[in-house]
Amino acid sequence: MEKREQFGSTIGVIAATAGSAIGLGNIWRFPYVTGENGGAAFLLIYIVLMLGIGVPVMLSEMIIGRKSQSNAIGSFKKLVPQSYWWLIGLMGVFASFIILAFYSTVAGWTLHYVYSSVSHNLLGQNYEVFFLDFKDSSLMPVIWHIVFMIFTVFIVLAGVKKGIEKYTKLLMPLLFLLIIILCLRSVTLPGASKGLEFLFRPDFSKIDANAILAALGQAFFSLSIGMGTVITYASYIQKKENLGKIALSVTFADFALALLAGIMIFPAVFAFGIEPSSGPGLVFMTIPSIFEQIPFGNIFAIIFFLLLAIAALTSSISLLEVVVAYAVEELNLKRRSATIISAILATMMGLFCTLSWSTFKNFNINVASDCDLGGTKTMYFFDMMDFMASNILLPLGGMLIVIFVGWKLGKKKAIMELSNENKLKSKLFDLVFFIIKYIAPIAIAFVFLKGINVI
Ligand code: PHE
Repeated sequence: MEKREQFGSTIGVIAATAGSAIGLGNIWRFPYVTGENGGAAFLLIYIVLMLGIGVPVMLSEMIIGRKSQSNAIGSFKKLVPQSYWWLIGLMGVFASFIILAFYSTVAGWTLHYVYSSVSHNLLGQNYEVFFLDFKDSSLMPVIWHIVFMIFTVFIVLAGVKKGIEKYTKLLMPLLFLLIIILCLRSVTLPGASKGLEFLFRPDFSKIDANAILAALGQAFFSLSIGMGTVITYASYIQKKENLGKIALSVTFADFALALLAGIMIFPAVFAFGIEPSSGPGLVFMTIPSIFEQIPFGNIFAIIFFLLLAIAALTSSISLLEVVVAYAVEELNLKRRSATIISAILATMMGLFCTLSWSTFKNFNINVASDCDLGGTKTMYFFDMMDFMASNILLPLGGMLIVIFVGWKLGKKKAIMELSNENKLKSKLFDLVFFIIKYIAPIAIAFVFLKGINVI
């Protein structure tokens, strides 16, 4: 077997884990899901779920990954041999494929926006029409989808430390900076206050069980938890690192970026008269209007979409790495063949997502709309994959992971790992374990069952 690599430094670990967490989930998904679920009240619930459930699930994954030094499936086999707990990991590998499929579709959209800004075809358009025309066509989205997957493969082939760590350390801060500039422009647009009100003045009548499940799904998706990404990355973390510190830094950075994305998008949504519940196209239909309002907008647009594509890349490599680490360590494939085979499979599945609105547009269902306008919304194959991964597989995976750590691994071993064999002292360890064992599983089960209308 090939020797396992490790992340080189604390800052490298945080950058790589944050690189996985920060991506389209923050900038593309968070605003549109918040828009579909009514704004501020959703945001408040999101914060509570991030801290109360997200952090404990992330810590549980870190405990499993670093303790076992193994991949998402192998870790369970190593910690409890001769049992069926590894099926949690298998579910995670399955979820990775599904997410990778629709994720690379959206990442392909960002590449198209880079290309369109470079060729001066973006600014000055009617952005709703521009986006829909592109998304509903059957050639360009496929090309960009494949291009993005090729980039992903390229970096994963370079390996963990050289590939993942190097690319994330520098670029994430740059993305932050650019988004702050965009926020400043957006909040000074005429009519911006309506957007800020939408984001910050809660109206709880807009919240129902579906919305709470959507918030939980968004928290899991955004933090990359519930499917073994963090288990896999934590297996490359050195024994001396402080897991609690890493989990909190990553959660904080991830949340901050989502919030900034909200502050960037919603004032513009209202200023330009776009429907907040427009769905997955929201960001793509809104952001170009902001660039139109700033000097050198086209150059900023190029940099922004490029950084967004790179943020997507640092997430997609973590998705592919889950599958690759499993295939290398459990199925004894060479890293190279494992990477290429899994990428081809994911790309093929992704084609169904990319072509959801053209070739496969008749494959859809109508469901009750989440937003307060009522009515129905149409879910295409793409939306079904997103729903299945974010609102079903990740919460379910997260619940099983905390149950595993709380009830099977047990308090002593869990706290040993969290405290680096008692070298770190904190009164919070007991509390964290209590949440992992009792609160998190019950809360996830409740939100999940209520959200899918079982109770
Ligand atoms: N967290 C990533 C994002 O916000 C997406 C992701 C989900 C990555 C699950 C890995 C695992 O874009």
